[in-house]
Amino acid sequence: MFPERFSTLPAYAFPRLRALLDAHEAGGPVVHMTIGEPKHGFPPWILDVIADHAEGFGRYPVNEGTPELLEAIGAWVARRYGVTLDPATQVMALNGTREGLYNAAMALCPEEKGDKRPVILSPNPFYQVYAVAALSVAAEPVFVNATEETGHLPDYESLPADVLDRTALAYICSPANPQGAVADRDYWTRLIALAERHDFRILADECYSEIYRDTPPVGALQVAQEMGADPERVVVFHSLSKRSNLPGLRSGFVAGGPESIARMRQLRAYSGAPLPLPLQHAAAAVWADETHVEENRALYAEKYADADRILGHVPGYHSPQAGFFLWLPVDDGEEAALKLWRETGVRVLPGAYLSRDTAAGNPGKGYIRVALVAPRVETADGLTRLAGCLY
Ligand SMILES: Cc1ncc(COP(=O)(O)O)c(C=O)c1O
Repeated sequence: MFPERFSTLPAYAFPRLRALLDAHEAGGPVVHMTIGEPKHGFPPWILDVIADHAEGFGRYPVNEGTPELLEAIGAWVARRYGVTLDPATQVMALNGTREGLYNAAMALCPEEKGDKRPVILSPNPFYQVYAVAALSVAAEPVFVNATEETGHLPDYESLPADVLDRTALAYICSPANPQGAVADRDYWTRLIALAERHDFRILADECYSEIYRDTPPVGALQVAQEMGADPERVVVFHSLSKRSNLPGLRSGFVAGGPESIARMRQLRAYSGAPLPLPLQHAAAAVWADETHVEENRALYAEKYADADRILGHVPGYHSPQAGFFLWLPVDDGEEAALKLWRETGVRVLPGAYLSRDTAAGNPGKGYIRVALVAPRVETADGLTRLAGCLY
């Protein structure tokens, strides 16, 4: 016997991509532009921090994060957003945000809302953990298309009142993977006001917050505080994976109201896989440093400029406001990815592997997602071949 509730889950994006492409020869030297795995260097000095605290591998780590790590995160939030959190009650260390985004639904989604099955809102296209989290807690996932017309962010205000009344949690990703759109102060204000009116909680995935062009994106916590919203209304997720090129460190955090964080901490005490102590020390040092983050941003700025130069003429091309993906319009994403692979050796992801069919159509079908993670020369070469082949 196996659970039925996951039977509607499609295969994960990357096995699907391998099934699409790998039966065919690459049409040139291979350039990987599929996965969002940063390739710039991480701060090399973390190796010394890990070595200095290596005795910690001999101990079970603190579940919620060492006080030193929680303090470092609290100090970063204060510097970045001007929001003062109590690290002891409002922050928890994560093993990367994916784990936290999943476990937040476990800890925070009620069995029923107003005697009805709860709804979990997700943007569409979206980071896939949101859907499996909703299924895991037997909530109804409602996918809300984020398209050109809606500024590539979901318009949750357009949902019928009965759906909003049943909504327990709303995932939102800003800067958005895959489109690179950023929720501005007005967007956050309206979303938080909607959540207050219909009494749901916002799970704000802000893991791309530090990869931006000129202006640091405003954060959900910051706007909630400015509005004087219920502190339990917003729970935010941040990561060192993209900010500091440390996807393998598996380090992020969740922050929000004390009740929400207490509930997440309690579940983690039972079932969590906390970050090893030497890595918690390294993470604390990395949150305290901005120099490497600025250098990292400068490398992305060069690649945004290259992308604008190479693809600026493409109808419907939007230079991303933030993050490291291009979301490029094509007739059919799968056909385009296959053609590109067979003719040039460039690998990109069909947009529909990140999106779902809805009554209003599948918003990913006519797109490919292109990750600008490889070094500049390789990225520019991939984009040039892509432009020549598809446009
Ligand atoms: C939108 C989004 N959220 C969360 C994550 C998870 O990142 P991590 O678990 O490495 O912090 C990713 C990783 O690609 C992502 O793109």
